[in-house]
Amino acid sequence: MGEETRRGPVTGRTWVMLVVVVLVASAIGIALGLAIDWFPAQGSTIASKIDTFWDVLVIVSVPIFVGVATIVLFSIWRWHMRPGEEELDGPPTHGSTRLEVIWTAIPTIIIAALCAYATVLLLDIQDSPARGTRVVNVVGQQFAWTFATNENGKRILTNRLVLPKGEAVQFKVQSKDVIHDFWVPEWRLKVDAVPGITTKYSLTPSKTGTFQVVCAELCGLGHAFMRQFVTVVEPAAYAAWVAKQTSGAAAAGGAGGASAAKPDGKQLFVAGNTQTGATACGSCHTLSAAGTTSQTGPNLDTALKQDDAAGIREMIVSPGKEIAKGYGANIMPPNYGQTLSPQELAALVTYIDKSVHGGKQ
Ligand code: CUA
Repeated sequence: MGEETRRGPVTGRTWVMLVVVVLVASAIGIALGLAIDWFPAQGSTIASKIDTFWDVLVIVSVPIFVGVATIVLFSIWRWHMRPGEEELDGPPTHGSTRLEVIWTAIPTIIIAALCAYATVLLLDIQDSPARGTRVVNVVGQQFAWTFATNENGKRILTNRLVLPKGEAVQFKVQSKDVIHDFWVPEWRLKVDAVPGITTKYSLTPSKTGTFQVVCAELCGLGHAFMRQFVTVVEPAAYAAWVAKQTSGAAAAGGAGGASAAKPDGKQLFVAGNTQTGATACGSCHTLSAAGTTSQTGPNLDTALKQDDAAGIREMIVSPGKEIAKGYGANIMPPNYGQTLSPQELAALVTYIDKSVHGGKQ
């Protein structure tokens, strides 16, 4: 080393100072990292496990970041080039086997330990369902989620996920087209929906309320709109909901009872069905008779002028078949055919047909 005074090896006192800086900055960083509310309130029994894992990651990664940043900043301050040194070459350096072994071994140990922790946690979550656990089949497709459960031997298909509080549930997640990701932030549940395989995830909702179901994997033009809701209710309210879904005309998929009230086409168009989560047509389409003005989808007053009732029905059930000029494909949820009961679909078609073509009944 040529310039002992300014450029010489770091002395013991400087090392102590550096270590103190790293320790103090790490303590502040960790305290901040743990104090910040990163996630919404916990809504499931696994949420605390995930949050603990997050805290461990914060505690491990902050000192690494602080340590690296301190060494970089110190090196810049101490060894940066000064005026007149442009032509100078630094002293020749040789490798240090001992150093290389150390800086390879330490990160390896840290990563291996975190991977082991994550694996054990994941297996714990995936294997937790007890016998007789409720199963919900989740199907993602561009750009909507469909939820199917079996209750009292009957299949309930919905766009809004409804579950009882305090009862374990296993999700079996599938995709019909590309990769989606089933995410409910309050539950800390996040699992990919991958074409061709079924991914699983189990938890017990522990908080009543309505939470967002979000697609967390970029899946196409409508990705940002692939958001629905899950409502967690008390077990008694859930039983009442199930009874309503599995009886009479309200049952999606058509149990076909005659007792229930005839669905109101205009009501469905304007407000959708909050029980099954079928979105209101009027939230995306303009229809003057219904008083809706959104321009997300084609204006039905003009777009459906040439279509008869059968044509309108086809547009609702298979929206991807014919795309109006200027509108993206796959924007309209493709599962109305499943989530509307035959009675609802018929009422909707009659209402739209009547509204578009004037007085014709
Ligand atoms: Cu589906 Cu993003």
